[in-house]
Amino acid sequence: MTENGTAEYAAEDGLPDLVRRAVAAAERTGFGWSCRPAQGRLLELLAGGVAGGAIGETGTGCGVGLAWLAAGAPPGTTLVSVERDPARHAAAAAVFADVPAVRLLLGDWTDLAVAAPFDLLVLDGGGQGKGAEPPLEPRDWLRPHGTLVIDDFTPMTSWPPTFEGEPDTARLHWLRHPDLLATELRLAPGLATVVARYTARR
Ligand SMILES: C[S@@+](CC[C@H](N)C(=O)[O-])C[C@H]1O[C@@H](n2cnc3c(N)ncnc32)[C@H](O)[C@@H]1O
Repeated sequence: MTENGTAEYAAEDGLPDLVRRAVAAAERTGFGWSCRPAQGRLLELLAGGVAGGAIGETGTGCGVGLAWLAAGAPPGTTLVSVERDPARHAAAAAVFADVPAVRLLLGDWTDLAVAAPFDLLVLDGGGQGKGAEPPLEPRDWLRPHGTLVIDDFTPMTSWPPTFEGEPDTARLHWLRHPDLLATELRLAPGLATVVARYTARR
């Protein structure tokens, strides 16, 4: 998790209004784990390809990543995000109060299933398979040719990639998944994201 994500916005000009509002909410509540600006710009770009479709996110935080998604999403696109922390959920709800395309759920990431399948799904708070929990199954969550984004890796410097000296099984899971065409994108010197396209038929 990127602990200084919120702080990085202090040096940013020309942010979309919704992103500025979400960053202000994160600052007010002392939430430092917002997605970094480089990741946000990627999300904005990817959302632009989801005309009239559905976007999902696990881990709303105070809504910074979701604000980038909403800023990039063409009219007619719906966005749903889930957060388990009530204070963060409330902070995000205030940010998106006047954005009817955005729906916020308070609960565990698995509750996002009520809104699946998605054309674009961003895993930032559950479903990544980074901890003890198993990763989500793309066929249950994505529309055919839908895009999956798994944030917050250290750029790989070896193959197979390693984490704390061991093969990085979470990252390898996504890069080798038989139903995905996946790659790692380096967005900043210390930041990489896995972006995958769901290729199997439902
Ligand atoms: C990295 S932060 C999300 C940042 C946010 N997406 C942004 O761009 O500003 C991860 C968030 O996921 C939430 N989270 C962690 N585990 C979760 C779970 N099992 N279900 C729902 N939310 C979860 C945390 O409370 C935290 O707010």
